[in-house]
Amino acid sequence: MCGIVGYVGGQQGLNIAVEALRRMEYRGYDSSGVAVVDGAGSINIVKRAGKLANLEDKIAEVGAESLAGSTAIGHTRWATHGRPTDQNAHPHLSFDGKAAIVHNGIIENFAPLREQLIKDGVELKSETDSEVAAHLLAQAYNEGETAGDFRASALKVLGGLEGAFTLLFTHADHPGTVIAARRSTPLIVGIGEGEMFLGSDVAAFIEHTKQAVELGQDSVVIITADDFEILNFDGTPGEGKEFTIDWDLAAAEKGGYDSFMMKEIHEQPDAVRDTLVGHFIDGRIVLDEANISEAELKAVNKVFVVACGSAYHSGLLAKYAIEHWVRIPVEIEVASEFRYRDPVLDANTLVVAVSQSGETADTLEAVRHAKTQGAKVLAVCNTNGSQIPRESDAVLYTHAGPEIGVASTKAFLAQVAANYIVGLALAQAKGTKYPDEIREIWTALEEIPAKIAEVLSCEEQVTEIARTLGAIKTMLFLGRGVGFPVALEGALKLKELAYIHAEGFAAGELKHGPIALIEDDLPVVVVVPSPRGVKVLHSKIVSNIQEIRARGAKTIVIAEEGDDAVEPFANWLIRIPKSSTIMQPLLATVPLQYLSAEIARQCGNDDIDKPRNLAKSVTVE
Ligand code: M6R
Repeated sequence: MCGIVGYVGGQQGLNIAVEALRRMEYRGYDSSGVAVVDGAGSINIVKRAGKLANLEDKIAEVGAESLAGSTAIGHTRWATHGRPTDQNAHPHLSFDGKAAIVHNGIIENFAPLREQLIKDGVELKSETDSEVAAHLLAQAYNEGETAGDFRASALKVLGGLEGAFTLLFTHADHPGTVIAARRSTPLIVGIGEGEMFLGSDVAAFIEHTKQAVELGQDSVVIITADDFEILNFDGTPGEGKEFTIDWDLAAAEKGGYDSFMMKEIHEQPDAVRDTLVGHFIDGRIVLDEANISEAELKAVNKVFVVACGSAYHSGLLAKYAIEHWVRIPVEIEVASEFRYRDPVLDANTLVVAVSQSGETADTLEAVRHAKTQGAKVLAVCNTNGSQIPRESDAVLYTHAGPEIGVASTKAFLAQVAANYIVGLALAQAKGTKYPDEIREIWTALEEIPAKIAEVLSCEEQVTEIARTLGAIKTMLFLGRGVGFPVALEGALKLKELAYIHAEGFAAGELKHGPIALIEDDLPVVVVVPSPRGVKVLHSKIVSNIQEIRARGAKTIVIAEEGDDAVEPFANWLIRIPKSSTIMQPLLATVPLQYLSAEIARQCGNDDIDKPRNLAKSVTVE
């Protein structure tokens, strides 16, 4: 959570930092701010509650010339400690006006540190846990054996902090240097020519350089215009891994759509296609990026999927696929519950941790717990070099490209595809599917991107349905079999984008209570399984549709082409191409993404990329 940027070089730091914050804003947008070191012994800060546009207004008000300087740090905030106010916005300045910091994460021992600072006569200006770091830096720099030594002062501060944090330090006496540190939250260095960048992710600086360095756990990096030096927290030389960024700038921009989310919905055929590439070679499933042997896969006798939100829904689909293909039990667990429940794991348990960002704190903690229990952990992740894959035994990357919209769309479909690859790899290793059966499933998977492209053409129809629905207070989503996770995902999208109450149910559960919610004109989305699949499921859901229609509901039915049985019971019928049972979620999800986006707009939420109260990556538990 929170986006962090840093710059040292020959350009105006303010411009670079504000531009970088624009690309980081998806990480949090409760407030933003920049600090610029001017080279004449001063640090100038401007910060504002609300979205980045508010900061830009403030900069225009004070004048960019008052923020001149080529060393800058910036921050866009998702509030944890303290309300989203101007005072709580970062950067935070020290009591002597000489040190400024930005922080992502949580300083767990901030309360005693704060208390001590107050005893020392320091006046704290914000309610945040972060501000203590600025004052501690000034104290270390002003007195004792670290006096006058920026590096030693920063290391001293870091040594006294507990929790998870990325911190960037600047000091007015040291223009041309930014010291940064990371523990369990992300920080990437961008290497330019005569300039260096820092960012929570590479989107902060891909406009300027494709060369980057990922830092290990508990690393400190000192950047100047021409160099960077990596240290451990104890000051000994540290290590980083240099890599070339393969995302281009256009991938991080809107490409002509009115929102990142709409662009990302349209990128779904590519996201799934790219995720499949290279995983079926000479008739065999290949987990080449996953450092896990065939023998280890063969020994797996139980799978746990741990994930949050949409990634959790993709995990539910993994359960359907893996149990059906591999015949071993699969448990799916909301990551935030996993380690507190004492799950039964051993060396033959495969824990699949699914995460777009690779930073989600709940999922990361679940991974750590699984490892302490001796289980093998395979991460399914969209973000190269992020923490979850780093701490896992193996990783299977989804290739959805950067997902900027807070609501997950293309990353979700890519996760489903990747989870299916894991399922097929297990089936192959354990021999529960013959090679020809695996080839048949793979062929079905490979046909999916083109089918998703067909489903994209339902945009106009779905938009029209959303407009006709008008103002709604609540909406239900029903599914059976693999349609159930789709229903949950549809309801989640509507909640987060339109701020409307929505619930997804297994359609069979309806009669056990939720049917009491049905009243005249209540819109209900029904995801209908293929009549060519488990026969009984199709006929049962047709009965469920009749039950809710009889009670006044208006039904929006998603069914495959040629399924005529549902037609009489649908107020609106959205057609999707025929597919095998397990593949259907990759198609049926798409209309629900359009639906929630348009209902959100109908409700006046035009900024669907940044729903209220949310952040793209949730790095707190
Ligand atoms: O980055 P992750 O995949 O770990 O994120 C998990 C959830 O926070 C995420 O899927 C969230 O539910 C989305 N906003 C849903 O659209």
